[in-house]
Amino acid sequence: MYELAQRINRIQPFHVMDLLARAQQLEQAGRSIVHMEVGEPDFPTPPLILQAASQMLTCGSVKYTPAAGIPLLRERIAEYYEQHAQLSIAAERIFITPGASGALMLAMAMLVNPGQHVLLPDPCYPCNRNFIHLFDGKPVLIPVDGSTDYQLTADLVQQYWTDKTCGTIIASPSNPTGTMISAMQLQAVIDFLTRQNGWIVSDEIYHGLVYAESARSALEFSTDVLVINSFSKYFGMTGWRLGWLVVPDTLIDAAEKLAQNLFISASTIAQVAAVHAFDSENLQILEQRRLEFQQRRDFLYDALRSLGFSIEGKPHGAFYIYAGCESLTDNSDAFARDLLERAGVAVTPGRDFGEHQAHNHLRFAYTTSLENLQSGVERIRQFVSA
Ligand SMILES: Cc1ncc(COP(=O)(O)O)c(C=O)c1O
Repeated sequence: MYELAQRINRIQPFHVMDLLARAQQLEQAGRSIVHMEVGEPDFPTPPLILQAASQMLTCGSVKYTPAAGIPLLRERIAEYYEQHAQLSIAAERIFITPGASGALMLAMAMLVNPGQHVLLPDPCYPCNRNFIHLFDGKPVLIPVDGSTDYQLTADLVQQYWTDKTCGTIIASPSNPTGTMISAMQLQAVIDFLTRQNGWIVSDEIYHGLVYAESARSALEFSTDVLVINSFSKYFGMTGWRLGWLVVPDTLIDAAEKLAQNLFISASTIAQVAAVHAFDSENLQILEQRRLEFQQRRDFLYDALRSLGFSIEGKPHGAFYIYAGCESLTDNSDAFARDLLERAGVAVTPGRDFGEHQAHNHLRFAYTTSLENLQSGVERIRQFVSA
C-alpha cells in the first residue's frame, strides 16, 4: 500500500463528474438527457484549424517545440492584443501552455510558497483551489454575491489580506457566474496588491465571449500582472489543450525554466493549427457563435427567472448562469440529482464552486442548442410544478 502525499486529501474531486457519469448511464439505457452541466462549447473545431492540423499531419514530422511555444503563435497572440485591446505585449512575455490549466499550474508553481495564502472569490472555478494545494499553499475563500457582481473588490481583498497572503486569482467573466469585474474595481484591486507587494493572476479565458461592453484585461492596468487565456472557450478548441500565460518581464526566466521542466512543450499540432485561430475568416465564425450564445443566454435568463430561480444581475459573459434555487429547495445537490433522475436534465450544483450559498445555487451552462435549452426548460417547468 502506497502512502499518498498529504496534499491529495486536500484536493476535492469534481462532484459534477458523478452526475455526468449517471447522465451517461441513463442515456445508455435509452433516456433522453438535456445537458446543461458541460463547461465546453458544443460547436465543432472551426474548419481552418482542422485544415491546418491535417496539413501538418501529412508532413509526418511532429517534434517538440521550444518550451515557450512556437514563435509564430506567440507573435499572433501579441498582434491579437494589439488589434483588440490596443495593448503592446512583447511576444517574449507570452508562454504557450497545455490549456489554461497548464498556465495556472505554471503560475502557481512560480508564485506560491508552502503555507502562503491565496485569496479567491467564492464561488469560483474549482481547480484554482487545487492548484494552490498542489504547491502546499492555502486557498482563502472570500464570499461574494451579486452586490459585487460575484467579483473581488479592493475592499474585500484588503479585509482578508494578512502577512501570510501572497496574491489573488480573479476571473472575469467568471465561471460559474458569467459576471465581470468593472474597470474601476480591477484598477483598485491591482493598486492595492501593488502596495502590498502581492501578485494578481487574472484568468481571462472567457474573453471574447461577452455580450455587453467588452471585458477589460488586467494587462491594460499594469505590466506587472499575470494573465491566463486559452484556445478552449472562445476559440472552441477544448480538446486541443492549448492556452497561454502572459508574465511580467521579471518572470520570463522563471517561466521558461519551469515550462521546460513541466511540459517540455505544449502540443505541436495544436500550436501549428492555432496560428490560424486569429485569421479573419475564423474570427467571423467565432462572432456568429458568440451571437448564438447571446441568444441562448437571453432565452435561458428569462426562462429560469420565470421558473422561480433568482439571478442577481444578468450575466454578461462566458456561457453560464448561476441561479439561486432558494424558493425551490435548500439542497441544490439533491435537487440536481432529482432533476436528472426524474426530468432528464443535468445541471451543476453550487458545491463544486465553493461553500458560500452553494446549497441553494445551481450552474446552468448554455452550451447546447436553443432547441435543447427550450426542451430542458420545459422539463424543469414540469419538474418544479409536479
Ligand atoms: C475559469 C476557468 N479557467 C481555466 C479553465 C481551464 O481551461 P483549459 O481547457 O484551457 O485548461 C476553465 C475550464 O473550464 C475555466 O472555466
